[in-house]
Amino acid sequence: MITCYDYTFARLLSKSAIDGILVGDSAGMVMHGHSSTLSMSVELMRLHTEAVVRGAPGKFVIVDMPFLSFRKGLPAALDAAQILMSAGAHALKLEGVDGHEDVIQSLTQSGIPVMGHIGLQPQSVRAYGGFKVQGRNGDAAQVIARQASVLEKLGAFAVVLECIPAALARDITKALNIPTIGIGAGAGCDGQILVLQDLLGMNMDFHPKFARPFFDGARTVLDAVAHFDEAVKTGTFPSIEESY
Ligand code: KIV
Repeated sequence: MITCYDYTFARLLSKSAIDGILVGDSAGMVMHGHSSTLSMSVELMRLHTEAVVRGAPGKFVIVDMPFLSFRKGLPAALDAAQILMSAGAHALKLEGVDGHEDVIQSLTQSGIPVMGHIGLQPQSVRAYGGFKVQGRNGDAAQVIARQASVLEKLGAFAVVLECIPAALARDITKALNIPTIGIGAGAGCDGQILVLQDLLGMNMDFHPKFARPFFDGARTVLDAVAHFDEAVKTGTFPSIEESY
C-alpha cells in the first residue's frame, strides 16, 4: 500500500499494481507542513479523499479518521465516518483501540470496513514525547499484541503495525487471522505501506531508517526546475514551436 493525498498522484497510482491507497492524516505533515498529524480535520480529510478517489476510481481507498474525530462519543464518530464514506472512502482507519472499542464495533456493524493502527500511533505523539519506536519492552509489547487481538475481535479487516520491533510484528502477524500491514515493523508483516513522498525521496531532510527511497525525487525535481530556470533566462524557452 501507499499513501496518497492528491488527484495527480492518485491518477499515477491508479496505473500501478499497488493493492490499496491510504489517504493518511500524514497529509498534515507531508502536504501542509505541520510537525504532526494533529491539525488534520474531518473537512481536510474529506477534501483529500475526494481528490484521491477522483484520480484513482478503481483502487481500494482507505481513509484515516483524524485526531479526536472518533473520541467524542458514538454519534460524533458516526457523523465523521459518514462524511468520509460519502467522500468516496471504501474503508476507514482508526488509531488505537482502548476507549473507542464501541466506535470500531459500531462502524463494522454498520457495514464500514475498519483498519486498525497500533504500535506508534502518530496522533499520540504528545504522549510519547516524540515519534518513537513502541513495544520495545515486554509489557509494552504485550499491550500491542493484546490490542491487535481486540481489533480482530471487534471486526477490523486489517491492522497497521507502525514502528515496533520486527519480532513482535512477526508474532502478531502469526497470531492474527486478519492481515497486518507494516511500516517500520520489519518483513514479517503480511503487507507493507510507505508514505508516497518518502518512497519517492522527496524530502532531503527526512530519512527515517524504515523508509527506503526508491527514487531520487528531490534531486530530480530540483534538476528540472533548474533546467527551466536556465532555459528562460538564456532565452531558449519558449521556442517558436512552443509559441502560438
Ligand atoms: O497517515 C499515514 O500516513 C499513516 C501511515 C503511516 C500508515 O497512518
